[in-house]
Amino acid sequence: MKKTVCELFAGVGGFRVGLERLNSGWSTVWFSQWEPGASKQWAHECYVSHFGDIKDLAGEYTTGIDVAQVNKKNIPDHTLVVGGFPCQDYSVAHTLASSKGLQGKKGVLWWQIYEILKAKKTPFCLFENVDRLLKSPAKQRGRDFGVMLSCLHSLGYVVEWRVINAAEYGAAQRRRRTFIFAYNKNTNHYKTTKKTSLEDILLRDGFFASTFPIRSNEAIREGKVSKDVENISNDFKFDFGNAGIMRDGKIVTTKATPMEEKAITLGKILENKKVDDSFFISDEKMPKWTYLKGAKRIERTSAAGYKYVFSEGPIAFPDPWDKPSRTMLTSESTLNRSTHVVEDRKTKKLRLITPIEAERLQGFEDNWTNTGMPQRMRYFCMGNALVTHMITRMGRTLDNIIDAEE
Ligand SMILES: C[S@@+](CC[C@H](N)C(=O)[O-])C[C@H]1O[C@@H](n2cnc3c(N)ncnc32)[C@H](O)[C@@H]1O
Repeated sequence: MKKTVCELFAGVGGFRVGLERLNSGWSTVWFSQWEPGASKQWAHECYVSHFGDIKDLAGEYTTGIDVAQVNKKNIPDHTLVVGGFPCQDYSVAHTLASSKGLQGKKGVLWWQIYEILKAKKTPFCLFENVDRLLKSPAKQRGRDFGVMLSCLHSLGYVVEWRVINAAEYGAAQRRRRTFIFAYNKNTNHYKTTKKTSLEDILLRDGFFASTFPIRSNEAIREGKVSKDVENISNDFKFDFGNAGIMRDGKIVTTKATPMEEKAITLGKILENKKVDDSFFISDEKMPKWTYLKGAKRIERTSAAGYKYVFSEGPIAFPDPWDKPSRTMLTSESTLNRSTHVVEDRKTKKLRLITPIEAERLQGFEDNWTNTGMPQRMRYFCMGNALVTHMITRMGRTLDNIIDAEE
């Protein structure tokens, strides 16, 4: 089996960077990246400037259009499909109650993945999404992920998942994401693992447990998912743990705790050189930043006219050097509570992180996004991306799996 990849929702190429770093023969045969509603496709341009564009089987360039418009039959054959599918609907920016999940506008892109798997019969899949995917929607907890499991089950896949916080596995950023690994029952990997108990796969031998070691003192819970997606949409509810597996419709899940690994701190990735004056916080803006980062209690009125008190605690200001950073969002560098503010190494004054530091937090080469896009978009693309080292680590396990295929 060849190490060929189709990278969906490719952004600036986080999966590709993570896999190619291994130098073990991974080759991307097609990708898709299109930002809805944007007149200038900065991420696609950045991706192409690093890797070049690729024609589909009909000889057309379709990598930069809405994936829904792509004829799935024209996607080149591949062994592995990867993708961090758009997560706005589950994003931490919304409360769980207001997140629309699979029924939301962008969440429906799951059906594009489903169409591709149906058309291409891809043997292996690796997807990424925000952690709340497992809980969405609030009114029918676990339904959205249940629908995905049901789809994958109906197409003959076994599915493992894990919520991974990159900082717990040696990265400089606390970024908690759900990773989903699926393999088809026509692979050797299925044949060699089908006798292993679901519990052993979950805790020790599986794709995630062997790559990111865990322990679990919590009960192992079991459930079932049928191949009938409509049924799942209407009735399914399940409390998915942060680690789990679904095989033949049987779900086994638990709350896992990572084995301790030494984290890299924010201080380690900060610039040693002089940083441009434009990144520093002016005396004039300091009160606003102090307010945003501080504790507050504000009286608000709900849409229905009820008065309530909104309160939030303080967050570290500036962000400490001796810990991994907080999660980077697409709004990084804007006047926002979640934007990182650090003490500059040379001047000891407070400043924003630079686009290069944002790239380092996600494990990209310095200046990866310095391909002509505005500075604001460089932060945006990094907020959308993933910690590439996590993919490199998964890639090592994938190397062993693919080497054992015919
Ligand atoms: C969460 S980001 C993934 C980023 C990527 N993993 C990286 O390393 O940069 C999702 C990406 O999907 C893209 N996208 C959203 N809707 C799309 C569509 N209909 N077709 C193709 N790409 C789409 C967005 O522009 C965004 O870059």
